[in-house]
Amino acid sequence: MNLKELPFSMKPVGWFQIGWSGDIPKGSVKPLRYFSQDLVAYRGEDGGINVMNAHCHHLGAHLGHGGKVVGNEVQCPYHGWRWNKEGKNTHIPYQEKCVNKRLKTWHAQEQHGCIFIWHDPTNSPPRWSLTHMFDDFTEFSDMAEKDFYPLYPGGTRLWSGEEVHPQITFENSVDSMHFRYVHDSPMTPELLEQDFRNDDTEFRTVFGFKSVKTGEVAMEFDTRTSGVGCSFNVFKGSYNYRVLFCATPVDDETSDLFNSIWWPRPDGDESQQLPNDLEKRIADEILTTVDEDLLIWRHQAYVDRPLLAREDVRAFTTLRKWQKGFYDLPATEA
Ligand code: FES
Ligand SMILES: [Fe+2]
Repeated sequence: MNLKELPFSMKPVGWFQIGWSGDIPKGSVKPLRYFSQDLVAYRGEDGGINVMNAHCHHLGAHLGHGGKVVGNEVQCPYHGWRWNKEGKNTHIPYQEKCVNKRLKTWHAQEQHGCIFIWHDPTNSPPRWSLTHMFDDFTEFSDMAEKDFYPLYPGGTRLWSGEEVHPQITFENSVDSMHFRYVHDSPMTPELLEQDFRNDDTEFRTVFGFKSVKTGEVAMEFDTRTSGVGCSFNVFKGSYNYRVLFCATPVDDETSDLFNSIWWPRPDGDESQQLPNDLEKRIADEILTTVDEDLLIWRHQAYVDRPLLAREDVRAFTTLRKWQKGFYDLPATEA
């Protein structure tokens, strides 16, 4: 997809995934690039995750390439200047006085093994709370995080630098007809519910898959899209797994796509990682659904005024109208 032709930018406001907790163990540093900015993420001795602009204010070295964690600060690989988690210069090895210039820090949040940042072109603080994969679906399913195998690394996959706009990927959440053609689903899901949550920052749909034999709903899934960056999916019925799909702009032309699968484990199984056969099955059958969607997304032309089938009108129109609200928001107070 040619992202330059889209009528919306790659700078939406909201929560965006930048990795998994397991990617950045305590004491490690990782270079990142999102929203056309070079970033560094590091985890200090206190266990917290910190994300800030990557280039040192001294002579511009990238803190993510060779930088070191010292306590809860990051040390530049070039001349050893240190920066704390507020972005403040705290140490210059050969001079007593520090410089009074901060590196821009990003609001980072870690939950259920995933790391997210808040992106807002006006630098406003987070405007809404991010959906939680386990705390927020209790009315739909009573399973808890402990009822699933640990996510990382077996249940995760990253697609880097895809020419896809995040917003487009979430049209899947209302597109009942594509399941049959793109994902070979034997059944076409039916839209059962659609509403907004969390002060209208969350778009929710519930789909039901009916059994061909009985006509009864055999499986339902509750999908909650937070802004235009993250989609939380909870299945209930013949399968009870959960999927988090996130898309994060890297620059004006590409995005990184993250897929996370939580698979339920049998009672009494306390293992700390997915069994090998299950990991292979998830890799072959579940994580690949994004490959199937990507075949379409990569080559799709954006149709601003689509000719929708009667079946699609309500859900598509509502979704697109809502998505428009995540761009060009005026600044808010901290
Ligand atoms: S460039 Fe970072 S300390 Fe010199
Ligand atoms: Fe899909």
